[in-house]
Amino acid sequence: MSDVLDAGDIFPDGTVVKGGHLVVGGCDVADLAERHGTPLYIYDEASVLARARGYQGALRATYPGASTVCYASKAYSAPWILSLLAEEGLGLDVVSGGELFVGLRSGFPAERTYFHGNNKGEDELALALTEGVGRIVVDNLDEVALLGRLARERGVRQAVLLRVSPNVDAHTHAHLTTGKLDTKFGLGIDSGSAEEGVRAILAQPSLDLRGYHAHIGSQIHEIEPFEAAIDKLFSFAKDMRTKQGVALREISPGGGYGVRYTAGDPTIKAVDMIKRVGGVVAAAAREAGFDELPELTIEPGRSLVAPTAVALYRVGSVKRIPDGRTYVAVDGGMADNIRPTAYGAKYSAVLANRADDRGAPVDVAIAGKYCETGDILIQHVDMPLPKIGDLVAIPTAGAYHLSMASNYNMALRPAVVVVSKGRARMVRRRETYEDLLAAEVMVERVKA
Ligand code: LLP
Repeated sequence: MSDVLDAGDIFPDGTVVKGGHLVVGGCDVADLAERHGTPLYIYDEASVLARARGYQGALRATYPGASTVCYASKAYSAPWILSLLAEEGLGLDVVSGGELFVGLRSGFPAERTYFHGNNKGEDELALALTEGVGRIVVDNLDEVALLGRLARERGVRQAVLLRVSPNVDAHTHAHLTTGKLDTKFGLGIDSGSAEEGVRAILAQPSLDLRGYHAHIGSQIHEIEPFEAAIDKLFSFAKDMRTKQGVALREISPGGGYGVRYTAGDPTIKAVDMIKRVGGVVAAAAREAGFDELPELTIEPGRSLVAPTAVALYRVGSVKRIPDGRTYVAVDGGMADNIRPTAYGAKYSAVLANRADDRGAPVDVAIAGKYCETGDILIQHVDMPLPKIGDLVAIPTAGAYHLSMASNYNMALRPAVVVVSKGRARMVRRRETYEDLLAAEVMVERVKA
């Protein structure tokens, strides 16, 4: 097996090589490529379940109060996974009317759904109120006023959390950091805006302030930024209890637990970070004098799903630049995975149909097929020189690929299969050319 397969936590649990082929969830990926075509996203159900249960167990083991693991569905939203996680008793974090709709249609109970977003539309808030969404995480003063009115008009009292910005640097990519003072998300604790938010909510009888939420960023590998944010949350909560008489019933330090994309990434596991977070919240609550522990909610997105899927592509061309690199072009790219182009994200890859090939590895670039120079999935990866028709598997493909996929260049979004115990079920068909026109309205030209 190659280094990356050996490294652990990069491929779905239980991934092995048999007869030279990559086998995920007991299914030979070369067979899946034959049956379903490429690009193909392959999710391993057991890996999803192991993480969901592991995170719930981690909080139960370290946090003596009530706790909820909310899946941040922006990472990947699809009926098969939402119904699975609903059955496991998780909560759901949604950030749009669309995510809310898909959650509800997938059987996720509205009362276990948390609605986030820095500019929720009136129609989205109205939908949330009509459906009885459990918590709305209010982001700013305009939203307090709007939601207060909409709830009043409907004669309901809506439970809310206030999103605050703790002014903590999460040491991650600039596009993925959210908890600093100068951010579009939440109200700053240090600036006094968060307290203003509390007063505004208390002035709205139709809103029931349950507690506070902070999310400091994504793909975080260190515990310290979480500790700092949790400290800030509790000193703010203590302050608000004294000054505004607010009882703290719920607290959420968000999501953001990092994963490994390459063997060189830090080895710390999300489940271990979650254990630490549980302990840190319990200690901070007691230190701030909240002996009745608030309900703790965490919101992992990426870490729950990224390592559970592999993206499978077929090689269509291998181009050697004299004195330069070798470009291995595959049949997908930035339309199904924008992350390398958007964030410079790094990935690993193996040749899925020659995974035991110990031939001299060469340094290749895995190029996408779309018309952009920046459409390179991996700038450098070592593998035996690929041939046309070979299969390239890119692991850690379960989060922020399909949920950010596009029809750029009129690409067809890929099919998705879920593997479990040697069986594969197609849960999303590949788009067709007709799908590309499905929402277009054919009009006659207006003639004078
Ligand atoms: N809660 C809130 C309020 C969030 O904004 C996010 C992610 C999460 C939870 C889940 O964070 P996670 O556990 O997935 O790190 N497209 C980017 C990531 C954007 C994350 C946005 N917010 C990427 O591909 O890296």
